[in-house]
Amino acid sequence: MEIKKIMVIGAGQMGAGIAQVCAQAGYDVLLNDMNEKALDQGMKNIEKHLTRAVDKQRISDQDKAETLARLTASSQLEDAEGRDFVIEAVVENMDVKAKLFRDLDTIAPKHAILASNTSSLPITEIAAVTERPDQVIGMHFMNPVPVMKLVEIIRGLQTSDETYQQVEALTNELKKAPVEVADFPGFAANRILMPMINEAIYTVYEGVASPEDIDTVMKLGMNHPMGPLTLADFIGLDTCLYIMEVLYEGFSDSKYRPCPLLRKYVKAGWLGKKSGRGFYQYT
Ligand code: CAA
Ligand code: NAD
Repeated sequence: MEIKKIMVIGAGQMGAGIAQVCAQAGYDVLLNDMNEKALDQGMKNIEKHLTRAVDKQRISDQDKAETLARLTASSQLEDAEGRDFVIEAVVENMDVKAKLFRDLDTIAPKHAILASNTSSLPITEIAAVTERPDQVIGMHFMNPVPVMKLVEIIRGLQTSDETYQQVEALTNELKKAPVEVADFPGFAANRILMPMINEAIYTVYEGVASPEDIDTVMKLGMNHPMGPLTLADFIGLDTCLYIMEVLYEGFSDSKYRPCPLLRKYVKAGWLGKKSGRGFYQYT
């Protein structure tokens, strides 16, 4: 099966980025969101990033116009009918993802591959709610998608070799670097990154240093492009908390306990850059 028509579900920061790189690589792409405002914002963000790329002379005006012509907004899940490949980037919650995959399984054509951009949740469990677990796979992009090269590819217990090979080939077509990782909580990237971010939050919580100073330590001391608290705000504090919970519960190990300050911020609606406030304030 050749992948030609793609649908991306969830038009937030990850979904919009995934839709953008797929359209830039020449695929016919539907970007779907259940929230009209989020869908509109996702489409606008893609246009903004393409305009910036034109301004920087990385792509031509024609490339931009052709990319946008390959991209269509969708607010109905039924639009998955006729798609060869569907990837979801909705909230990091197993109940939400399981319902979505159950519905998609009844709508998408039998040959379609169903992928998840989950940061941490078990692919095997997501696949098990469908009648096609052999065609379900994890395809974990990094944020910001148009910039970061890595894609972790995660096989569930029943993912077929054919599905894996097709997703690996798609990743290469998108000019990304695939790395296969096993289906363990947090895979590789977030099992390593999130405990560092969580520890940075503990250092604020315990009064060791201010968020600014902790970020400075990691930027100037370790050459990280962003300090861990700026990065946490950038990822979304809700997503960071959900990932820590998956690690904590998935390994039953107290070393992954989420910092109470992270919980408090998420409960307050301080989700980072996307909500205007996290460890820092954004206008
Ligand atoms: N979307 C698209 N492009 C973006 C972008 C965005 N949100 N933010 C920045 N860029 C692009 C800019 O257009 C610019 O490209 P050009 O120079 O070609 O125009 C380039 O990135 C550099 O941007 P800036 O000069 O504005 O800023 P910078 O040099 O500080 O780089 C950064 C920004 C690339 C985000 C850099 O700070 C960085 O690498 N930060 C760390 C990112 C990271 O760790 N990501 C992984 C997060 S973890 C994850 O994704 C997994 C998970 O499950 C949570
Ligand atoms: P986000 O909050 O920016 O966007 C999520 C979008 O999904 C929202 O627009 C919401 O309206 C939409 N949505 C929720 N339920 C839906 C449904 N049932 N159908 C259609 N749309 C629905 O989140 P995000 O940061 O883009 O993260 C999305 C996924 O990508 C999560 O699983 C997250 O763990 C993963 N991820 C995030 C990052 C990151 O840095 N933020 C990196 C890699 C992977």
